[in-house]
Amino acid sequence: MIEEKLFSGKTLAILSGGGDTPAINSSIECVRNRAAMLGYKVYGILRGWKGLLGDGDLVDLTNIPYDGIYGGTGLLSSRTNPFPSKKNPEDRSQQILKNIERYKIDVLVTIGGDDTNGAAKQMYEKYGIPVIGFPKTIDNDLRTRSLHDYKGTKHEAVLCPGFASAAMAIKKLTSKLHTTNESHQRIMVLEVMGRDAGWLTGSASFGGAQISLIPEVPMTHERKDFFFEYVKEQYLRSPKRSLIIAVSEGVRWWNENSQQLEMVYASPDLDEYGHPRFGGISGVIASEISKKTGIEARGQISGYIPRSGKCFEYDRRLTATLADKVTDLLLRQDYGKMPVMKDIVPYCELEEYHTGAIDMGNIGNFPLPEEYYNVNEFSFSDQYTDFLTNIIGKPYRMEFDVVFPVVIPQR
Ligand code: F6P
Repeated sequence: MIEEKLFSGKTLAILSGGGDTPAINSSIECVRNRAAMLGYKVYGILRGWKGLLGDGDLVDLTNIPYDGIYGGTGLLSSRTNPFPSKKNPEDRSQQILKNIERYKIDVLVTIGGDDTNGAAKQMYEKYGIPVIGFPKTIDNDLRTRSLHDYKGTKHEAVLCPGFASAAMAIKKLTSKLHTTNESHQRIMVLEVMGRDAGWLTGSASFGGAQISLIPEVPMTHERKDFFFEYVKEQYLRSPKRSLIIAVSEGVRWWNENSQQLEMVYASPDLDEYGHPRFGGISGVIASEISKKTGIEARGQISGYIPRSGKCFEYDRRLTATLADKVTDLLLRQDYGKMPVMKDIVPYCELEEYHTGAIDMGNIGNFPLPEEYYNVNEFSFSDQYTDFLTNIIGKPYRMEFDVVFPVVIPQR
């Protein structure tokens, strides 16, 4: 006889909002498995908060197979903000409340970044809805208060599901880019997602990018002059006359025409959380490098590639570990919290005893701290290398090691 489960009759619903990552399906599957084991009926809300508007759009996840390795999100995503925004001044939170009641949802797990979880926090604080936020972003800038132990001192860093998979993809992509770049002895400017933070751009240095620009350090008029000189020097020094420069999509770049620091947008239209869509800074920088240094340069946007494909092992185990913490929060009925890793640890130490829960009132964005970037060398520091090695292993770069003997014409 099947014993009665702890919470039989209770219902937990999961939603995912914002940009997808390769680790969302894994998060959904891991949370679903643990909640179902406790006896919850588990629903999936489709398209983020949008699935709780109108009549609602929900599916039953309780006893169906779920592929947690496949990237993206089976529950679909949107950037719907239930609260008033510039784009949509209507307050739709009442519709959400109505559906939470209609579908008899006892607990809501919101997989998202600062936007989705910020709205969840408001649902909890304003209306007392029992929510548990689950972190997600490839940008890795959602504050998780995870401590990185570097040479015996603890530094605040961030660890969000999705980042490891995207960082691994950028490392591999950068490593590949050397072959084309070396063949043409060019400078390649590789653009990496990251609206406000350079955490992900740093992973290009693990594939051999020699120089990096991040949103945290604006490229002012003076800094640009120094940058062009530095780029030329590094290029001429490089054994293969080939240089890869990684740039975050959100780099603030001095525009000579407007005489202002500007960002480059793929579209200036704002989403419901007030974000424009970035894209194109790599082309702008590449063409200015060519003009200023006389060296051929190209721009390459990595775009959605690091956000796509399978969940990387580190993320798989990270989501499982954070889901273990969700179990703990459910058993304690401790809501308005987000499970996090308290420490930055390598794969084998991703265990529940390294987890903690932070109050959702304390989340928000956390940019790359100063010590992780060498401002004068436009590069990531040894501290950053130590941080990322925990997550994606050591830097790796393909090399063409053959040296050809030079042929001298015979007399
Ligand atoms: O979720 C964050 C992010 O990946 C950013 O790095 C990027 O600017 C944005 O999403 C793009 O999202 P989309 O084009 O899917 O709206």
